[in-house]
Amino acid sequence: RLLITNARQIVQITESADIRFLKGIDADRIKILEDNDARLALLISDGIIADLGLFKEVKERNDLSDVEIIDAQKGVILPGLVDAHSHPVFAGDRVHEFAMKLAGATYLEVQAAGGGIHFTTSATRAATENDLYQDFKKIANQMLASGTTTLEAKSGYGLETSTEMKMLKVLERVNREGPLEISGTFCGAHAVPRGTDEHTQTHLIAGEMLDLIRKCKENGELKCVENIDVFCEKGNFNVENTERILLAGAKMGLKGNFHAEELSCLHSAEMGARLQVQAMSHLEEISDDGIKQMAQSGSVAVLLPSTAFLLRLTPPPARKMINEGVIVALGSDFNPNAWCPAMAAIMHMACVTMRLSLAEALSAATINSAHSIGRGATHGSLHKGRVGDLLILKVPKWEHLIYRFAAHNTIISHVVKRGNIV
Ligand code: NIG
Ligand code: FE
Repeated sequence: RLLITNARQIVQITESADIRFLKGIDADRIKILEDNDARLALLISDGIIADLGLFKEVKERNDLSDVEIIDAQKGVILPGLVDAHSHPVFAGDRVHEFAMKLAGATYLEVQAAGGGIHFTTSATRAATENDLYQDFKKIANQMLASGTTTLEAKSGYGLETSTEMKMLKVLERVNREGPLEISGTFCGAHAVPRGTDEHTQTHLIAGEMLDLIRKCKENGELKCVENIDVFCEKGNFNVENTERILLAGAKMGLKGNFHAEELSCLHSAEMGARLQVQAMSHLEEISDDGIKQMAQSGSVAVLLPSTAFLLRLTPPPARKMINEGVIVALGSDFNPNAWCPAMAAIMHMACVTMRLSLAEALSAATINSAHSIGRGATHGSLHKGRVGDLLILKVPKWEHLIYRFAAHNTIISHVVKRGNIV
């Protein structure tokens, strides 16, 4: 059991433990417990939040003998951050392409010339499972240190069965070891590998690859794989094939969570809303109809400010989405194109480039991103009965985490995952 004492603020996000996400105006009114004398406390028992409030009251309600104590030193307790989109398992880097893109090459031009995902796929195919594990473990530790306690993480640099399985096994291993909790996503449809065509690749994914994943899920080898993803984009997968792959995944219980409307408006958001997929990412080029239909379907819009920033894309119409009632979440999109593991920096960018308020950005990186991976009822807010995932900040107000751009590491004093200090 872990007791945190002497906190000045506890940021709960929602009013009630039952709320699964926030949209529109709700997301601007997060619930904060505040005591200027810093007498707030929070108790975690068996990984679950057991109580919180004024220390005096927590002490009255609970037996506090044998608890491990953290002194928050008049700081802030925040929910652990949930990163809703990442591609963190890969070999090598693409620093040479960063220079090409800065000089004016577009993402799709680099990819069409054999770079981008294809470049990383060659390196990842050649790497051993252990190499990939070692590299990902370093990234996972950087993410944890920056306050991410739960991560959506994709495969997608194999594009053939054995390498995709190798990547999913790495995700499974890191999830089992903890403390970073992973919602794994099969993204065999990340690109069409050279030497084959989109139709053949769609067939391979919906057939052989998904069959094998189903077997591994049934025998308990790939428990963390929960979602299915497709890069629905010109030169990659069209809307029809994307739908086929999503439906094949849905048949075996995988939740649809795909790359939509990033570089071209293909009206994939309308298709995703019709299938009522759990989440769609990017959405820079979404149409007004797409926004309306996502608001109706309840599919979460996962926005990725670092990618839009570095590719110099027009940011997605986040304000319009929020005003129309779309549930907005945030992800780092950590991948060899976009090397930012820190959700605090992502929230800062979302505020500046997409005009989210501070409270909206925090909701988007906690309860809403938890909802985008099916954890909205258990993660992303600090209430009795939810998981004991939290950060302690050595600042008097929570807003400093977003305000101090790229300086989050200087203010996070503790990261706690399921009641254990990381
Ligand atoms: O979300 N757009 C497709 N997937 C990634 C990029 C992956 C890569 O370039 O390696 C994204 O930005
Ligand atoms: Fe992505």
